[in-house]
Amino acid sequence: MKITITKNEKEFDETAAWRIIAQILNKSNAVIGLSTGQTTIGMHRIVSQIHAQYPFDVSRITLFNVDELTNLPGEYTGSCHTMILNQLSGPLGIPEENFIMPPTMSDDFEKECRLFEQRLAERGGAGLQILGIGANGHIGINQPGTPFESETWVSPMDPDFEARVRRETKVPDHIVLGGLTRGIKNIMHSRKLILVAKGAHKAEIIEKAILGPVTTDIPASVIQLHPDCEILLDAAAGERITGRY
Ligand code: GLP
Repeated sequence: MKITITKNEKEFDETAAWRIIAQILNKSNAVIGLSTGQTTIGMHRIVSQIHAQYPFDVSRITLFNVDELTNLPGEYTGSCHTMILNQLSGPLGIPEENFIMPPTMSDDFEKECRLFEQRLAERGGAGLQILGIGANGHIGINQPGTPFESETWVSPMDPDFEARVRRETKVPDHIVLGGLTRGIKNIMHSRKLILVAKGAHKAEIIEKAILGPVTTDIPASVIQLHPDCEILLDAAAGERITGRY
């Protein structure tokens, strides 16, 4: 496991952005998994800015997101589809067929999960998966207790996360939300993982996930077992592990 602790948020955003750009420059048909949330907005913005200033070829890359909310309209501002479209795939001009996302609405999400994985597999599978981490250690939307062999599925939402999504998206209460997420097994099959976190509020869970035991109680701890994995943090998120690895 490689651990990179950057000086501050700015350096974190820039470093993360260059990891994504490097993947694209190294492999013109790179398949890259993204993550939504506050942590990744800055890095997406910088990738878009650098591309606008110094265009590099993105015509053959595939982008997807590790998870998507279910039962809200795809064009909802809080859907992962909309966020990635606005933050990255739109600014880069990625053609629709190269931006692979499961639908937010369906009568058969099991089938959609299989199709999503199938489409990624047809392109050679994820070469890089960026992962955020939830305060309870979730990756994608795999909450504590999710078996490590889980495959892409619709997970119940963590109540705090659900409250936040409802606050941010204003989805009415009577609509049951779910989280379609790549399973932990699928995530672990990505050839390279980069787990990103910034801010002091992530320091404690980073300590547990990176220096604690590998346990389903903290889904992110599983990445300790991945052969090509980087933990990329700003100083605040890394404050409890600095000098201890
Ligand atoms: C949500 C997303 C995750 C993301 C996490 C972190 O749970 N579904 O994929 O990793 O948020 O969010 P933030 O970066 O806002 O802390």
